[in-house]
Parts: sequence; C-alpha cells; structure tokens
Amino acid sequence: MDKVLVTRAVFPEVLDRLSGYFEVEFNPDDQVWTRSQLVERLQGKAGAFITGSERVDAELLAACPDLRAVCTMAVGYNNIDVEACTARGVWVTNTPDVLTETTADFGFALMMAAARRLSEAERYLRRGEWRKWHYDQLMGADVHGATLGILGMGRIGQAIARRGALGFGMEVVYHNRTRLPLEAEGAVNARWVDKATLLRESDHLVLVVPYSATSHHMIGEAELALMKPTATLTNIARGGVVDDAALAKALRAGRIAAAGLDVYEGEPHPNPALLDLPNVVLSPHIASSSVSTRRAMADLAAGNLIAALGCGPRAGRPPTPVNPGPTGRP
Ligand code: DGY
Repeated sequence: MDKVLVTRAVFPEVLDRLSGYFEVEFNPDDQVWTRSQLVERLQGKAGAFITGSERVDAELLAACPDLRAVCTMAVGYNNIDVEACTARGVWVTNTPDVLTETTADFGFALMMAAARRLSEAERYLRRGEWRKWHYDQLMGADVHGATLGILGMGRIGQAIARRGALGFGMEVVYHNRTRLPLEAEGAVNARWVDKATLLRESDHLVLVVPYSATSHHMIGEAELALMKPTATLTNIARGGVVDDAALAKALRAGRIAAAGLDVYEGEPHPNPALLDLPNVVLSPHIASSSVSTRRAMADLAAGNLIAALGCGPRAGRPPTPVNPGPTGRP
C-alpha cells in the first residue's frame, strides 16, 4: 500500500476516504511545518495532499524521490513548480470549477462592502458613535449601474462579470492576455480594453489574475495613479499581484476611495500599514470558504490523489490535472 501525506488538517471524512487506499500520515494539530519538517514527513510518501501554504519546488522534489503526485486543495498553484514536477514525472492537480461561484460571490461581497463602507460603518456603530441620522453619513459609491472592471477573465472573472451585468446592471470592461470569444463577451456584455483603459474606466476594479512573475505587482503606484479617486479595488487573486505598500499609501492619500482585500503579500501577516486604514475591508483568504465548496475542494483533491496514484475507478486519470504526470516526463 502506498503511503501519502496530508500536510494540513482536513475533513475527517476525506482522511477516511484516503485511508481506504493508502497508509495516511496527517497533521491533526494543523501545524504549519517548516520546510525541513515537511521534507522529513514526505520521506517514503508516494503522494502529497497539500494546500496553498506549502512550496513544492525542484529542491523539495529532489529530496523526496518517492513522490509521484502533488494534489493541492486550491485552484491556484503558484506555490508548485509545475515544470520541475513534470520533468520528474510527478502529477500536479488542483481544484478548479468547484469553487468558481463561491469565490465570485465573495469577490462581489468584498467589492460591495468596500463601495458601501460596510466595515467602517460597523466599526463606527460598535464604537457607540452612532447618535443620530445624518444626511451624508458614511456615504459610499453605488455598485448598480457602475462600471465593473475585471483584471483576469478566467472562470471566476466571468462569474463576477455575470453577477455585475445581469444582477446589477453594470457595464463590464475587462483585461486579459487573451480575449474571450465574442459569444462569451456577449453573454455578459463585456468589453475587452487595454490595461490602462481598464484602470481609468473602472468604478470598481476586481483582480482575479493568477499569480506569476508576470503578474507580480501588476498593480502598483503607477497603476493606482491611473484609477479614479472614487474607485474601489478588490483583490481576490493572490498576494503579490498588488504592491500592498503602494496600495496602503494610495488609500491613505485618498488616491482611490476604498479597497477590499482577501489576499496579501506575506500572508498571514498583512502589511501593517493596511490594518489601521478606515477605507479597506480585510478578510483572511476565505473567498472559497463556504461549507459546501470547501468540502467539494477537499473531495476533488482526494479524488485526484487516488486516481493519480493508480487507484479507484479513475486510476491513472485524475479529474483535474495541471500537468501530464508521468507521461510528460521528457
Ligand atoms: C485557491 O483555491 O487558490 C484559494 O486561493 C485557496 O484557498
């Protein structure tokens, strides 16, 4: 029986399912292992069920020669060196689709909370400062009818566009390396624009672009300077897509009106400059965290691991591979 490692705490049912196929070592205390603790635990393991918190690179693969499958419980896999895995014939899988709508819901919620100053209003009320109605109390920006900008028009970007166009009568502009087919653009009335136009035209800009060397600090001081002073910025993509220090400066100076952030550089320790700003809504990387979606993600990651290691009804054909597994080895 192959041995596998589950690097973080997960639903007990998922551990039970994996135990039907493998000898499972897991992490009941949900410790965040150091690199050397991770490498030590991976010795002799054929598969790893990981999350976005563990880095898998060429050095780790070389130190863990038995590894044949790395299955992450996340759609993003910027923490995994896919090329290095492919070169060693190691499967990489992720969890797309099952989290699209839930993540889009949350992105929309963050955007609305930033636009309508929801966190700021709640803090004001909880501090006991609400004494009377006032004509300009905590006035925010409208979402309905405004221009929704989307940077990164993949599955989640399109789900956000649908909410904006069909539910809120928003005009949708987007920027993506590849333009959507006309039919997909038409379905949400979305208009492709270059990045500068996107920044200039958006009333509410939502970032959904995957993190890579190319998207590192895609939004920094220069980009923020192009945005409307009344605009909001929502980041549900990845920490590092935004230069958080530049964003904090822009928010403090009123260069843009507000931000909604679920992801940060240096997670789980957001830039302290963000923490005492009134005009930013902060959440701890929970965009996919609804009960049914987190279960679906865990189930899919487990199904991927089982299949990648040659077990179960889909043996050798993991449902959502990122690379070709052993057949991709040069
Ligand atoms: C993802 O799926 O990539 C999320 O960011 C992880 O929670």
